[in-house]
Amino acid sequence: MTGISRRRLLGGVAAGGSLALTGCTDRPAPAASAKPLGLSFPKDFSWGTATAAYQIEGAVTEDGRKPSIWDTFSHTPGKTRDNATGDVADDHYHRWSADLDLMKTLGLRGYRFSVAWPRVVPDGVGTPNQKGLDFYRRLVDGLHQRGITPMVTLFHWDLPQVLQDRGGWENRDCAKWFADYADVVFRALGEGVPTWLTINEMRTIVGLGYGTGSHAPGIVDHEAGQVALHHLMLGHGLAVQALRATGSKSRIGPAQNLTSVYPTDDSAEARQAAARTDLTENRLYLDPILRGTYPPDALAALPQSEKMKAAIRDGDLAIIHSPIDVLGVQYYTPTYVSASGDWVTVKPTSDASWEQIYPAGLYDLLTRIKRDYGDIPQVITENGMAVADSLAANGTVSDQPRIDYLRDHLVQAHRAIQDGVKLEGYHLWSLMDNFEWAEGYRQRWGIVYVDYPTQRRIPKTSAGWYRDVIARNGI
Ligand code: FCB
Repeated sequence: MTGISRRRLLGGVAAGGSLALTGCTDRPAPAASAKPLGLSFPKDFSWGTATAAYQIEGAVTEDGRKPSIWDTFSHTPGKTRDNATGDVADDHYHRWSADLDLMKTLGLRGYRFSVAWPRVVPDGVGTPNQKGLDFYRRLVDGLHQRGITPMVTLFHWDLPQVLQDRGGWENRDCAKWFADYADVVFRALGEGVPTWLTINEMRTIVGLGYGTGSHAPGIVDHEAGQVALHHLMLGHGLAVQALRATGSKSRIGPAQNLTSVYPTDDSAEARQAAARTDLTENRLYLDPILRGTYPPDALAALPQSEKMKAAIRDGDLAIIHSPIDVLGVQYYTPTYVSASGDWVTVKPTSDASWEQIYPAGLYDLLTRIKRDYGDIPQVITENGMAVADSLAANGTVSDQPRIDYLRDHLVQAHRAIQDGVKLEGYHLWSLMDNFEWAEGYRQRWGIVYVDYPTQRRIPKTSAGWYRDVIARNGI
């Protein structure tokens, strides 16, 4: 079932919260004064934030970058809220150094960002663009200089348009194009990047890029999406192999968005429907990588999977099953499934109507991965909340609902660690407000407010709170 209604804007949840802060660009806000809960995290726990290239960089025509599918999509009238594009976004391409300084003031230990394929290999394949690679080299070096460990995503949805014109992920060659591009990035950034993530959220690409068509490339064709999924899987596996072939000691894994699935009632029908959803939303994305097989019952549960089955060639699953070092887990929302198989909103949502707030779902997910897939190191590569933040007249942004959300999810992460999950780190989505895909700039996910007309960064109350969490290594 791919009827994901995510990223439909909800007018709803108000920002609330009354704690004031005195933020400015170079000094984070004072912490919210709530009493710590006394929960400490492991000594080397990596506290980070996450971003993605197209959502923050801007500078889309600079230094040799060519269009991605998101440039095309966002420039197509009616595809994004307010027809917003990533042309300028957070202007991070020019402001990266000040942004890194800001991260340092927060005490971040880690930072997850993505490399834009159309910046470093503008024609998708062939000659790399040195200026593009230099940008990321400066970023990696700048992070190390500030004591922040980079974690780099190779593909966060910005496929070069020229490759989409050749079929994109529906074309089997795309897996190879991706691995070749990955190889360029591995060699350019090398050991400066201790952890690589291959592909961000295959499930969202399939569900929104090919299911609802609400994300680039904007195709509404479930069968095409399933074929694309297999090629994404293959691309992931080939990239893992490409990293090993360089002799690198760095680690690599995928970043998958997963969901804890619950039946809405105790009936056998609801439980079966929830199990089916779990197959198509979780196991379909984990089993090939971690077990070397598509769950046969998942393929059976997919409508018309003949084309996908035909796309799977001998040997593919061995490539996809190439050993990974770490599993990137992105958790935002549980999924509640009724007896009729419908997805139902049961919990309060954030400013994003698809995001139901259920922190214990994170615990259920992390422990379930350990139970079903073994003791693989896990890292939370995204978790966070959309809040209708606004800049107060006194220049502050108060986001107590986000603090509550983060604290409650960290309690559950801590519980999972206590219960033996090898959880290495937490990357909050997001460092700063940014281009939220089809939702444009109205939905705010950052712990740093971005005043888009001036590009001023204003740390929200949650930024000060997170800084204190990091400093104390606990909540
Ligand atoms: C995730 C995406 C990320 C951002 C958050 C809110 O699905 O990976 O880019 O849009 O949702």
